[in-house]
Formats: sequence, structure tokens, C-alpha cells
Amino acid sequence: RKEEEEGFAVDTDYAEEEERKKAQAAIQGVRQQFGKTYLPLVNGVYVETQEVVDSVNPSNFREIVGKVGLLSVEQAEEAMKAAKSAFPGWRKTPVKERAEILRKAGDLMEQRRAEFSAWIVLEVGKPLREADGEVSEAIDFCRYYASEMERLDKGVNYDVVGENNRYIYQPRGIAVVISPWNFPLAIACGMTVAALVAGNCTLLKPAETSSVITAKFTEVLIEAGIPKGVFQYVPGRGSQVGAYLVNHVDTHVIAFTGSQEVGCRIYAEAAIVKPGQKHMKRVIAEMGGKNAIIVDESADLDAAVVGVVQSAFGYSGQKCSACSRVIVVEPIYNTFVERFVEATKSLNIGEAELPSTQVGPVIDAAARDRIQKYIEIGRQSAKAALEMPAPDNGYFIGPVIFSEVSPDSTIAQQEIFGPVVAVIRVKDFQEALQVANGTNYALTGGLYSRTPSHIEQAQSEFEVGNLYVNRNITGAIVARQPFGGFKLSGVGSKAGGPDYLLQFLEPRTITENI
Ligand code: NAD
Ligand code: ALA
Repeated sequence: RKEEEEGFAVDTDYAEEEERKKAQAAIQGVRQQFGKTYLPLVNGVYVETQEVVDSVNPSNFREIVGKVGLLSVEQAEEAMKAAKSAFPGWRKTPVKERAEILRKAGDLMEQRRAEFSAWIVLEVGKPLREADGEVSEAIDFCRYYASEMERLDKGVNYDVVGENNRYIYQPRGIAVVISPWNFPLAIACGMTVAALVAGNCTLLKPAETSSVITAKFTEVLIEAGIPKGVFQYVPGRGSQVGAYLVNHVDTHVIAFTGSQEVGCRIYAEAAIVKPGQKHMKRVIAEMGGKNAIIVDESADLDAAVVGVVQSAFGYSGQKCSACSRVIVVEPIYNTFVERFVEATKSLNIGEAELPSTQVGPVIDAAARDRIQKYIEIGRQSAKAALEMPAPDNGYFIGPVIFSEVSPDSTIAQQEIFGPVVAVIRVKDFQEALQVANGTNYALTGGLYSRTPSHIEQAQSEFEVGNLYVNRNITGAIVARQPFGGFKLSGVGSKAGGPDYLLQFLEPRTITENI
């Protein structure tokens, strides 16, 4: 794909000195705004809240990035009422107009690219290059879903002599978007603009630790012309405001991305029809992964080591797509582990804003403590091939590699969501596939191999939503690698793909005898 020609976003080239200077200036500019308060947007107005929480810089938790007003349940009810009032007007707004708002939002984020990257770097500790890639993804979602809705809006004609048959789509109603902190802009934006362009009034509840970035995204949607009540920014506690909106009788669609535990709970709660409810709720739940890369004896080991390091330690392993298991066949196992450890040792760990940083912090103290518990479990059940030291001024954890990991052990089965990798020894490729499929998850997976029969078998038998052959397994691109899993990794079709918007629409058939 030639990105620019096709209107997709192009990542910043930090090899250019000017771009590096611009990025550092944006980081300083954002830092000067630290400590401001961000309030929920209800019916077009920023409302005061009783509860305000600090959002801190994970690279240096003494820095308060912003203060976030958390909505109460009563205020969430006001937002729901406003969404209901705005719906009749928004559903009648021509698709062309809705799509233009998305395109304008994409253009505004392009203009503010360096600033948005800086907010991501500083609020969630994502290293600059990856933060910039995330801004591209958010822009791409806006442009792609705008075009997709224009395509769907044409409907389908199934006319026959004497009878017109039209197949059309209408919005579902009120959409509740519940987003995670690890892609604070791209995933929140993607789910939100999909719901909006399809004609649904949308409430966005971000994760508590990334609410400042979503406040910035809110500014963009307002400037792009989103009408009041059509989009509302409703930061709040997941277990209170999130749960309230999920269970609300007037909610039609829930677009959730987050953990398996919360996703399963939302799915179950949404299935209960409440008194007065006249519809079934649609749930899109994109959840976690325990993603494996298989390395067989024919693999190009240079490429495999680079791909595994990137997939495992990019954003400190805090991607649902990250590699957390490497399954290596016996003949090359020892060589692979040795080279993997050596390559990992060369990674720079530090504050996300430093241009040299490859591994930044994890999101917060709770994540750091949880990951450390898994490392302790790993020490007791496997061999610690590498434990890298890390600074202590932020929530840092150095990369950890465990070898000789049993496929059924805790660290090979549970999503750790940190820079911890389990390397598993298997006798051959058949066993590798069996081990790879031996979890509840099916999100991403990778294979390094030069054996055509193995590649072919993996294509049909490796149970993952996104399979990558001879490359890293993270960084799916909108409209190139539509993204999402199955089994307990998710329910719903793929983000950034041709079926995604259908989930926010109700199809209807109109037949007229003529
Ligand atoms: P999380 O499940 O803790 O929180 C996600 C969101 O759910 C937050 O906004 C939170 O406030 C809200 N929430 C929590 N409890 C709720 C409840 N009872 N009712 C309604 N909402 C509630 O996840 P997280 O820590 O923010 O994100 C990390 C997880 O997300 C990982 O498991 C990761 O694999 C997954 N993830 C998946 C994808 C994907 O596309 N499959 C992408 C990114 C992240
Ligand atoms: N879509 C993100 C990736 O592919 C999670 O890494």
C-alpha cells in the first residue's frame, strides 16, 4: 500500500533531525500543561464532578499529567438521557455529513500529531515511535470507517420484475464504548468513530489511567463538529459507571476492549433483558491474548530473534498482540535461547520520552506488582535465562526471559501483560502447534519457518485471529491486517476490516410490490 496516495497516515520519520526536534518540543509543550483538570463532557457541556483523580506519568510517578473528573452514576444517567434525545437527529443526518466529521477529526489529529504522540508518551509511558504509530492508527480508523460507511450506505438492490427489494442499514441506537489504557488513542478512537459514523449516539468511557488522552480526543471531535449529545466523554470507574452503562436498559451496543475477565462479565450482564428493554444488546468484546511464536528448525534465526524481541518487549509487552510464549523445536532450542538472551540484553530501558528508549515503564503500581508476582512464580517453575535490571523512579520492570517452561504452567497459560517471556521446548513442529493451541486464547500468533508444508499447516491449524509468518506479530495496520481474535480472546469481527461497521448497524429489507 502506498499510504499517502491512498489517504492513509504516514508515520513520522525520526531519522530526520527536524522531526526529532519537533517531538522534543511537543513533549516540553505537553509537560507545561501538566496538572490541568479534565472534566466529563455531558450534552455538550464540561461538567464538574465530586471525584477527581490524578493521572501520573508512569516513567516518573511524581509527575501529575492531569487531573480527571470522574462521573457519578447520576451524571451517567444524564448523559444517557442526552444521548437518547440526540439520537433522532443523528440517525437522520446524512452519512456524507457524518463521514466528513470523521475525516476532519483525522485531519485534526494529523495536524496535532506530535502533540498527541507526546500525550501518549507521557500519560501511558509508550516510547515515542510506537506512540506515533498509534496516532497513525487513530487517523486511519477515522478515514477508513468514513469510506466504509459511505460504501454500506449504498445498500443492495435485489429487484426483480414487479418487485423492488432493497437491503439497507440503520443505526442501532445508543453505543457505549469502553476502552483500555494500552492503546489509549487508537482503540478508543476506532471504536468510537465506528459507532458514530454508523449513526449511533456514543458514550466513551476510557480506562482510568488514560483519561487525559481521551479528553484530548474529545477536543478533536468537538472541533470536527460532532453535535452535542451525539458524542459524550464519560470518564468514570469501570465497576461503577462502566457497569451502569452496560446494564442500562437504553444501551444497544457495547464496544469493549480490555481484559478477558471484564469482557466475559460484560457479555453475561448484557445478555440479561431488563424490565422495559425492547431489544437484545450487541456486544463486541476484544480481549486478551497469550500469543505464541513458533520457531522451527528451518527458520532464519536472525529474523526470528529480531521478530521475537520486538513482539515480546515492544511497549514492555503491554499489547494484547504481544508475544509471551516462544515455542522452539529441540534441534535449535539452545542456540535460539542464547541468541534471544543476547539480543534482549542490548535493549535500552528508560523513560518513554528519551529517543534512545526501547523498553519504557509498565502502566502503574498495580501492574508492576502483578507482573512481579508472575516473575516470582516463573523463578519457582522454570529457569530464569535473563532478568534485566530497571530504574526505580518509575514503574519499570526489566525484560525477563524464562526457559524450560512447561506448556501447562501458570506463566505459559495466563496473560501477564508485561515484559516476561516463556520459552518452551518441543520435539517437533507438530508438538509446537499443539502447544501453541493449548490455551483459552486465540488472538495473534507467529511462525518462523522456511518449510512450505509447515507454513501451510499453520495457516489452517494455528488457532489465532491474526497469524504472522516470518515477521513480528504486533502492529496490525488498518485495512491491511484487520485485527481481532476468537476463542476467549474476543467476540465480534475485526477492527479495521470490512465487516467491522456492520456490528453497529441493523440491516433491514424493504420489499415493494410495483
Ligand atoms: P480492563 O479490562 O481492566 O479495563 C478495560 C476497560 O473496562 C476500562 O475502561 C475499565 O474501566 C472498564 N471496566 C472495568 N470493569 C468494568 C465493569 N465491571 N463494567 C464495565 N467496564 C469495566 O483492561 P485494561 O487493563 O484497561 O487493558 C488491558 C487488557 O486489554 C489486556 O487484557 C489486553 O490484552 C486487552 N486488550 C485487548 C485488545 C484487543 O484488541 N483484543 C487490545 C488492547 C487491549
Ligand atoms: N492492534 C494492535 C496490534 O496489532 C493491538 O499490535
